[in-house]
Amino acid sequence: MAMDQTVINGKGKIRSTLKGEFYTSPVIFDLEKKEIFSKSWLFVGYEYEVADPGQYLTTKVQGENILIVRGKDHVLRAFLNACRHRGATLCSESSGKTGIIRCPYHSWSYGLDGSLRGVPKSSECHEELVNNDTYGLEEVHLQTWHGMIWLNFSENPESLEQQLDTQIMERFGELETFARYQIPTLRVAHSKEYDVKANWKIIVENFQECYHCSAIHPELTAALPEFKSGIGTQNQVGLGASFNENLEAFSISGKGNRPMLKGLLPEDDRLYFGMTIIPHVFINLTPDHVITHRIIPISEDRSIVICDWLFDPEEMAKPDFDPMDAVELFHRVNEQDFEACQWCQENMGSRAYKNGGILVPIEHHVSKFYDYVLESIGMKDA
Ligand code: FES
Ligand SMILES: [Fe+2]
Repeated sequence: MAMDQTVINGKGKIRSTLKGEFYTSPVIFDLEKKEIFSKSWLFVGYEYEVADPGQYLTTKVQGENILIVRGKDHVLRAFLNACRHRGATLCSESSGKTGIIRCPYHSWSYGLDGSLRGVPKSSECHEELVNNDTYGLEEVHLQTWHGMIWLNFSENPESLEQQLDTQIMERFGELETFARYQIPTLRVAHSKEYDVKANWKIIVENFQECYHCSAIHPELTAALPEFKSGIGTQNQVGLGASFNENLEAFSISGKGNRPMLKGLLPEDDRLYFGMTIIPHVFINLTPDHVITHRIIPISEDRSIVICDWLFDPEEMAKPDFDPMDAVELFHRVNEQDFEACQWCQENMGSRAYKNGGILVPIEHHVSKFYDYVLESIGMKDA
């Protein structure tokens, strides 16, 4: 029986999911790239990685090679990492430090502000090219927020605060709790990249509900017993999940004696906060470390997820510092989640899912996410 988008049992308690084609159609994927990912602020790295003039990092997002570099004027800028001459990638290393950006192909050179500075053997048109705004590197909007670097590909981006602080407010009801974790002071101690054979939305939906927690996350539900109920605290205003009373730290062994992060208050102890920052970031706050996830959609049925574990650099400098006990807990959660996402992706093209599946009330935040996607891509009536 085909299901209506909003009500099927007359009480409005059950909603159908998005139809299978939303997870298999390259046309819808392109629409999402254009209407969601090209218009949203996207998380690409940390400010500390490019703290000094000349420091750069490269990344690939929205199918574009990106170069992020701090200028001699200390301003952080992002450019398309493509030479204006014949298009060669300018910087191939993932990070480094340089005084000038020189193309490896014919040696055109650009200042750290993106301006074209040198064109070898071009005496006849050198003046016309060099220091002419028209031939500098193509700049991409960049802003920082809590030590994180965000890019926006639209010509006139919405305010970064409008996108990000609004979601912090929805999660906490205020901005202070999140700020206490002082992400700008933390450093990545460990990072993992997951190649997930699933549409980006399946990964977001999974993080939006804890209905699956008792079935697939034995370690997580042991650490956070209230997750067994299926009502995750990710989306309940201001609430964190309390640690199991036997747990000393948010780690696979449950052991640990790192101090709380410096800005935290006694009431932040022994709590886990998870949150989604639409469209592509999850942030997990624990007393002694922070975990970030960013989803990079690759195609309609594949996404890369980069997960970083951040700690206080003072702790990292200690000879006995070892993040792996903490890393292992969420690494297992990630593997469990992404495997489940792949179970679903496999059948998105099935006749069984032609009209979508069924959401139960406990998953109501997924429903909110559907509204966001459908509205963004102009398919509210799909
Ligand atoms: S492509 Fe860069 S100098 Fe020719
Ligand atoms: Fe999960």
